[in-house]
Amino acid sequence: MEGDMKNAQETGRVYPEFHKIIQRADKESFLKQRAKVIWLTGLSGSGKTTLGSYLEKELFSRGYLTQMLDGDNIRVGINCNLTFTEEDRRENIRRIAEVSKLFLNCGIIVISCFISPTQEIRRMARAIIGDGDFLEIYINSPLDVCEQRDVKGLYKLARQGKIKDFTGIDSPFEKPMNCNLEIRTDLLSVEESARKLVNFVLPQVTNGR
Ligand code: ADX
Repeated sequence: MEGDMKNAQETGRVYPEFHKIIQRADKESFLKQRAKVIWLTGLSGSGKTTLGSYLEKELFSRGYLTQMLDGDNIRVGINCNLTFTEEDRRENIRRIAEVSKLFLNCGIIVISCFISPTQEIRRMARAIIGDGDFLEIYINSPLDVCEQRDVKGLYKLARQGKIKDFTGIDSPFEKPMNCNLEIRTDLLSVEESARKLVNFVLPQVTNGR
């Protein structure tokens, strides 16, 4: 303790004193759940937000505490200064992974829905969050199906050249190589996809219920 203070006075750096903080495990016991980050990756329009919302509702109705983070809301708030260049996408995911980790350490189940388009970006997220707590789920629908759905009308704008660096059009999406689960939303119905997701996640977050 004294050593820490001396160090702080000499270096100007103050290190977190974890022994004084209530631990994640205590919070998980309090919440009767195990915290995880459920990381949904996939193209725009693949169904990440739809399935993430379904999962959140399902978990919440069973008494689990969750937090959903989503590209469209994070990018108007904490990440409103970021574009869709490779560098900014990396910073986008870095911040989201750090925010996810804060919730994780609070015992909360985080559902993060982000394109997170490259292997390297997802590796970074996994490294920040921690391998055992990061569940990478590939919400897979082929580009032509996402483009046909065009829920937000953005693919049309991208094809017209009105939006630059659009994932799948003029910006890459690298398929996950080591995901924990893949859901083909072009082959399954929304209900079937959601059921698959819920069935995978439930055993991972259950803590003595
Ligand atoms: S990521 O690549 O940095 O992970 P993120 O998930 O935060 O992307 O944001 C994706 C959402 O932003 C899309 O669902 C879409 O609504 C919107 N968007 C706007 N411009 C683009 C673009 N150029 N590429 C991809 N998505 C875009």
